[in-house]
Amino acid sequence: MATHVYIEDIGQYAGQEVTIKGWLHNRRSSGKIHFLTVRDGTGFIQAVLSKSAVGDELFTTADHLSQETSLVVSGVVRADARAPSGYEIDVKYFEVVGKSHDYPITPKEHGVDYLLDRRHLWIRAERQQVILRVRHEIINAVRDFFNTRGFILADTPIFTPAACEGTTTLFPAQYFDEQTAYLTQSGQLYNEANAMALGRVYCFGPTFRAEKSKTRRHLTEFWMVEPEMAYADLNDVMTLAEGLVVSVVARVLDKRRGELKVLERDTSKLEAVQSPFPRISYDDAVKILKEKGLPFEWGGDFGGPDETVLSAQFDRPVMVHRYPSKVKAFYMKPDPDRPEVALGVDVLAPEGYGEIIGGGERLADLDLLLARIEEHKLPKDAFEWYLDLRRYGSVPHGGFGMGIERVVAWICGLEHVRETIPYPRMLNRLYP
Ligand code: 4AD
Ligand code: MG
Repeated sequence: MATHVYIEDIGQYAGQEVTIKGWLHNRRSSGKIHFLTVRDGTGFIQAVLSKSAVGDELFTTADHLSQETSLVVSGVVRADARAPSGYEIDVKYFEVVGKSHDYPITPKEHGVDYLLDRRHLWIRAERQQVILRVRHEIINAVRDFFNTRGFILADTPIFTPAACEGTTTLFPAQYFDEQTAYLTQSGQLYNEANAMALGRVYCFGPTFRAEKSKTRRHLTEFWMVEPEMAYADLNDVMTLAEGLVVSVVARVLDKRRGELKVLERDTSKLEAVQSPFPRISYDDAVKILKEKGLPFEWGGDFGGPDETVLSAQFDRPVMVHRYPSKVKAFYMKPDPDRPEVALGVDVLAPEGYGEIIGGGERLADLDLLLARIEEHKLPKDAFEWYLDLRRYGSVPHGGFGMGIERVVAWICGLEHVRETIPYPRMLNRLYP
């Protein structure tokens, strides 16, 4: 058999004989010719099979090939302007590797629950593959952003002794005989310690929230990238967040236009994501909501619908800062000029996608932090190590967390985060 090549590289082999190793996506026949759409994970290509080229026996076998049969196909690459990839293969020979009977996901419409029950197969669909490729690009763009700016990747633990983001969304895990561990909600607290050691750091891993809400933005397991900087204030945090978002969007536009096209994404909306992002206070945001007729009172946290309305006012992400301290986490620094608000920021994505980033400046003062831990009824013992950061050379510092799935949903233009990760974990879903 000829050299094995990947479909994404097929353009380099025009006129040559090659071998493709993949699966049958689709087949149609016109009596004397079979058209097989073959996919190999890197793309799709049409393989054209005529009786005269392959002989009677193979031609008859091809009559019965069913969806997702794995096969190896050899033939000559031919440029064809009508083909979506620009090329077709004139088949000389093929071999079945593994049969596939009654593949459960057919080109007809299936309900989303049906598809999620078969997520391990659903990811073979073109649209799902494309989304996962964009996810991959976003993750690489994030890593490159921090790695080229002097940030050190410092991993934070997944088993933790206490809550970071409120005690109502903790997942407990039995930790040997005596202790309960909790799956991490955020690496932030450890990131703060790492920043005091290494200056600028980030962690990037799975995080867990026992969210009982069924929304299009919530998963129980999601991936978060969290940078943290020593000697930084709220403005530094906002500038970093803006730089990251601009850089990630530009990278996807540069490298994944083909994928965005398959998703029918309106890329003009993404082109608009340029610096500077508007920075508005929580107070201003409340004014906007009231002007738009929402029954919102100063002091509450924004819900999904509020964020949708706010983010729809701007053509690029908007940064909302200085939320009421009461609705924010215990570690946020109160504004010295106005202690009832905290020096925190949320970045809301445009087109109604809502919060993609949350962060801010941390409370660096030992006594104030102790008071907050008490107010929030958190177990002080579990936070002794965190308090040490305020005892030994405390400095102004801050950072944020960006949820990868929400960013993927926004950039791909998806209705729900469930399609942004290979195996979504939600209130009612732990299978497959
Ligand atoms: O705003 P959050 O809760 O902030 C933190 O966890 C901070 N400790 C981060 C930090 O400052 N280092 O979460 C940050 C982001 C949100 O903006 C959102 O994008 C995502 O994480 N996120 C979720 N994504 C999917 N499903 C959920 N249940 C999410 N909860 C938060
Ligand atoms: Mg938040």
